[in-house]
Formats: sequence, C-alpha cells, structure tokens
Amino acid sequence: RLTVHSDPAKLTAVTRALRGAGRKVVLIPTMGALHEGHRELIRHARRMPGAVVPVVSIFVNPLQFGAGEDLERYPRPLEADLDACREEGVELVLTPGVEHMYPPGSEIRVGAGALGAELEGAVRPGHFDGVLTVVAKLFHIVGPDAAVFGEKDYQQLTLVRRMVRDLDFGIGIVGVPTVREDDGLALSSRNVYLDPEQRVRAGVLSRALAAGAGVSARGHDAVLTAARTALDGVPGIELDYLELRGADLGPAPESGEARLLVAARFGRTRLIDNVPVAL
Ligand code: PAJ
Repeated sequence: RLTVHSDPAKLTAVTRALRGAGRKVVLIPTMGALHEGHRELIRHARRMPGAVVPVVSIFVNPLQFGAGEDLERYPRPLEADLDACREEGVELVLTPGVEHMYPPGSEIRVGAGALGAELEGAVRPGHFDGVLTVVAKLFHIVGPDAAVFGEKDYQQLTLVRRMVRDLDFGIGIVGVPTVREDDGLALSSRNVYLDPEQRVRAGVLSRALAAGAGVSARGHDAVLTAARTALDGVPGIELDYLELRGADLGPAPESGEARLLVAARFGRTRLIDNVPVAL
C-alpha cells in the first residue's frame, strides 16, 4: 500500500513511528520523471538488510536550478511516477510543494565548499548549495537510517557523503552504479529533450568514457587522450569538461581508484556521465 504525503510534518510523524517499531527507513530522493535508474535505486534500497521501508521523495527543487536552466520545462508526470513507486513496492512518497520546502523568509543554505565550485559547479554556480540544502531538509523531514543515490550524479553523491561527514548527519549513504540504455547512454530524465539525431549522437559520451577506462593501464594521459579522441569529430556536441579525478574527486592518483567525468551539451540539452577508472 502506497501512501502519499505532501505535508512534510505528516510524513515525519509516520517515519518516526515506523522507526520506533523497528523498521529501517531508507530514503530515495528524486525530482520525479522516474525511469529505470530511479527504479534501480528503489530496488537496491529494498534489498538492504533489515525490515526496510523505502521512502521516495519527489520534488523539483528550484534552489538547484540556475537562471536559464530547465526548471519550468522539467517533466512532472506525477501519476506515472506514483504508478512506478507502486510497482516497485514503495510504501511512502513525499511530494512537498515549494511552499512547504521554502516558505517565505527561508534563507539559510548549506554551502557545498570548494568541490561545489568545480566540475558541474563551475558551469552551474550555486547548484550544489541548492542540492545539499534540499537533501539536508529531506534528511531532517524523513529521518532515514540510510539514503540511496546514483553514481550517475557522481559529484552530487560525493558531496552528499561529505555533508553527512562534515555535519554529523549519521545517515548511511549508499551509491548505486549507473543504469544505461543499450547503446550506453546513461538514463536521465533529461534524455526526453533530445531529438532523434541528438539521441544517436549522445551515445558518444559513454563510448568515450569506456574508451578512456579501457586504456587505464597506460596511465592518466592515455585515458584522457583516448576519451577525447572518441569525442572529437562528433558533430553537434559542445564539451563542458572531460576530467580524470580521484575517487573522492580530488586530484587523480598515480595509481589506484579514479573517476573519469564528462559533461556536454547537445543543443539546449546538457548531459553528464562518469565511469570508474583503475589507474
Ligand atoms: P534526480 O535527477 O531525479 O535523480 C534522483 C536520483 O536518481 C539521484 O541519486 C541520481 O543520481 C539517480 N539517478 C538518475 N539517473 C540514474 C541512472 N541512470 N542510474 C542510476 N541512478 C540514477 O539527483 C536529483 O534528482 C536531485 O539532485 C536530488 C538529489 C533529488 C535533490 O534535489
């Protein structure tokens, strides 16, 4: 049985009671337009040990959208999202309004620090302050034992882990590998913006990352060169960044766990992707 709450205070009362009854509350924060990637997060939550109550939040957070971004046209198919939650065995959904999350006078924000201004943050100033602020609020509203995030948004996952550590949230953060289409394109709610030609071209992002990861034994420069070569010559793509970093998004190590990250625009649509690299 799925119960939907738009009032955060009501959901707080329910999750508190469930936790008191020995259930393990696991939050899956989303902006809706749920696809197979979101569903995988839910399935992952349900497979965690303990008597898990999966709680999905659906909220298109205005704070994390910049001027000229897609806040207004972001897809909001609520009924289909609730059907997806039902199919995946979700018990509780939080669908707050902006008036619940940011009532007049709300002005305190979480600062994402130096990493918040790099990579995605360099192209989208303030984006991660907006993400961490809403995630902190959702953590306080739901009071979960753990929360599940996708590696698709690897910098977001990394910053949420850091927030939990730096601000002592005491919530377990679980990362789930990226779910992809048959051609490798990472599933994203924004893929619906791509026209057929852009959709075909977008496959180059994951191919380039795979090409880079595939030559990891030859070191840092070889990885970047292989990825860049794959991206070169594809028409209609504007690269925002292609970077090799450490697994914590610090500088890439000489050897060990690293991450190759890319962001590119196809017309008005911006896509991001990343893969693990073993240097
Ligand atoms: P949204 O883009 O809806 O994504 C919700 C969660 O689904 C994130 O943890 C994201 O990494 C994960 N996800 C998206 N596509 C995925 C894929 N192809 N494979 C695996 N996981 C995937 O990320 C946000 O919303 C927001 O920033 C949010 C955290 C909800 C804060 O507003």
